[in-house]
Amino acid sequence: MTLYELSSTLGCAPSPLYRIMRFLMHRGIFKGKLARQGSPGYAQTPLSRRLMKHGEHSMAALILLESNPVMLTPWLSLSARVLADGTSSFEVAHGEDIWSYSASNPAHGQLINEAMACDARVIVPAMIHGCPEVFDGLSSLVDVGGGNGKTLKVLVKAFPWLRGINFDQPHVVSVAGVISGVENVGGDISSDYEIDLYELQWVLHDWGDNECIQILKKCREAVLKNKGKVIIVDAVIEEAEKDKLTDVKLALDMAMMAHTNKGKERTLKEWGFVLGEAGFSRYTVKTIHAVQSVIEAFP
Ligand SMILES: C[S@@+](CC[C@H](N)C(=O)[O-])C[C@H]1O[C@@H](n2cnc3c(N)ncnc32)[C@H](O)[C@@H]1O
Repeated sequence: MTLYELSSTLGCAPSPLYRIMRFLMHRGIFKGKLARQGSPGYAQTPLSRRLMKHGEHSMAALILLESNPVMLTPWLSLSARVLADGTSSFEVAHGEDIWSYSASNPAHGQLINEAMACDARVIVPAMIHGCPEVFDGLSSLVDVGGGNGKTLKVLVKAFPWLRGINFDQPHVVSVAGVISGVENVGGDISSDYEIDLYELQWVLHDWGDNECIQILKKCREAVLKNKGKVIIVDAVIEEAEKDKLTDVKLALDMAMMAHTNKGKERTLKEWGFVLGEAGFSRYTVKTIHAVQSVIEAFP
């Protein structure tokens, strides 16, 4: 698209748009292409395709969530969290934590659900291809904090022997929609589960160590009776060896600092600590083609 086509489509002035596109090209988000008569033109790159609203690999919903004023304001109060660990910059900014805020502001809750679903579109196929054996021998799979059930929708299709239970806050599951093979159950993550429970995807990083240990203890008790296991899908920070996703993992850790009370991305040693305190006897870590790894924890 030429600069002039772009500016007329967007209804904005060519001169500042030219400067923005120069910056985005420098970042590799678009590439330059000389159009007719030497006027500037632009072409897509794999990165810009991630920002398109539709498409299998779209990350647009995640970007729209993180760039929303509700999510940006807590960054301005980050010093509160840094000065007193445990003080939430989200609460300083909005007077309540992110989950209560989303419960009372359904539009924000929807932004979160859509952002999570767009990430799940990347993680879940990566699990299906990277470690399908994790789901062997299970009959039911409970996704704790499963949001709108998008993860389970893909998993029960890939592994049809699984019965899926999508467990999240009542106001989240009430708008989750009907998915064949998936039952929606509303409740609190800290309540006593009366169901078998296996998967915690992008959930434990929202919580501090004490809350994680409590959640994991309950998961362990629930799966113990059925000789089951708990699957944690979350990032593992490598402090010594950096990989190409280290930048994203460390950036997510900053987002946890800004948006949750005590959440954080954990190193392998930190995962070992919370799992050990929760009573798990052993665990394995599988790397998949995603920011998250799959930790299988056995009671
Ligand atoms: C970061 S999202 C992850 C969503 C989903 N697992 C995924 O990977 O797309 C965290 C989820 O935890 C849920 N959650 C937060 N607090 C909860 C609570 N007290 N009880 C149950 N679910 C909770 C939120 O509603 C949200 O859906």
